[in-house]
Amino acid sequence: MNILDGRQLARDIRAELAEEVTKIKEKGGRPPHLAAVLVGDHPASQVYVRNKVRSCEKVGFRSTLIRRPADVGEAELLDIVGQLNQDEEVDGFIVQLPLPGHIDEEKVTLAINPEKDVDGFHPVNFGRMAQGLPCYLPATPAGILEMIRRYEIQTEGKEVVVVGRSNIVGTPISILLSRKAYPGNATVTICHSRTKDLPDHLRRADIIIAAIGIPEFIRGDMVKEGVVAIDVGINRVEAPDTEKGYRLCGDIDFGSVSPKASLITPVPGGVGQLTVVSLLINTLKAAKGEIYV
Ligand code: GUN
Repeated sequence: MNILDGRQLARDIRAELAEEVTKIKEKGGRPPHLAAVLVGDHPASQVYVRNKVRSCEKVGFRSTLIRRPADVGEAELLDIVGQLNQDEEVDGFIVQLPLPGHIDEEKVTLAINPEKDVDGFHPVNFGRMAQGLPCYLPATPAGILEMIRRYEIQTEGKEVVVVGRSNIVGTPISILLSRKAYPGNATVTICHSRTKDLPDHLRRADIIIAAIGIPEFIRGDMVKEGVVAIDVGINRVEAPDTEKGYRLCGDIDFGSVSPKASLITPVPGGVGQLTVVSLLINTLKAAKGEIYV
C-alpha cells in the first residue's frame, strides 16, 4: 500500500504558484486576487473560508473576505455579487455555500459572472466542462485529476466506481474520467443511495472515488486487491479520548481498505488538501485570462 500524499502535493503546487506570482510581479503585473463572500457563522464554512484566505497569503495572492450576518437580505447579497462581477481588481470570487434558508442559492450562483466563477459552480462552466470546452473546473474534481496526473495513475480502460452523485463532486468527476483525455478514457459507474448492490460494483473497481459523506462506509471486504482508493469524504466522528472530542475520517474505512489498496488517500491529508490549491489554480487562470479569451 502506498499513500497518495495530498499534503506534499499541495506544498509542491503552492511553491509553483508562488513562483508564478513572482514572475507576474517581475513583469510589472499585480498578483492574482480572490474574493470570498461568507454569510453567517456556519462553523465548517468559517474554517473552509479561513483556509482559502490563508492559502492565498501563502502563495502571494491578494485576497478579500466579505462577511455578512446570517440575516443578510438576498438583494444585498446579489448586490455584492454584482459589484464583484464589475470590480476589475478582482479576478475571481466565491460565495461560500451553504447559504441561509431564506436565500436562493441557485439565484446567487446564476448571478456570478461565469468568467469570475473560480468555483466552477455556474451552469455555464458545468456545461463547458461536460463538453470538454475551456472552463473553471470545480475544486474537488480538479484536485482529484491533479492527484491522478502527478502520481501518474493510469485511467485508460480502467473500471472507475464513483460513489455519490453531487453536482460538485460525483457527477463532474464521472464526466471528467470518461472523457477522451488523460486523466480519462475510463469506464465509469456512478453509484448512489438507490444503487442495488453497491459492494458488487465496488469489487469490480480498479479505482474508487468515494464522495457520499458517510463515515468509513466502504470497507475492505467490499474492494478488490490492488484498488486505487480516493476518498473525498471529510467526516467528524465522536472520539471522547481525544482533546477535541472528535476525529476526522473519510468515507473509506482506511484500516480495512489500506491493506488491499495499491494506492490510498488518507483523511485528513488527502484530496482535501488539493481542493484549496485547485481554487488558487483557477484564480491564477482567471488573472491570466486563460479560460475566457
Ligand atoms: N461549500 C462547501 N464546499 C464549497 C466550495 O468548494 N465552494 C463554495 N463556494 N462553497 C462550498
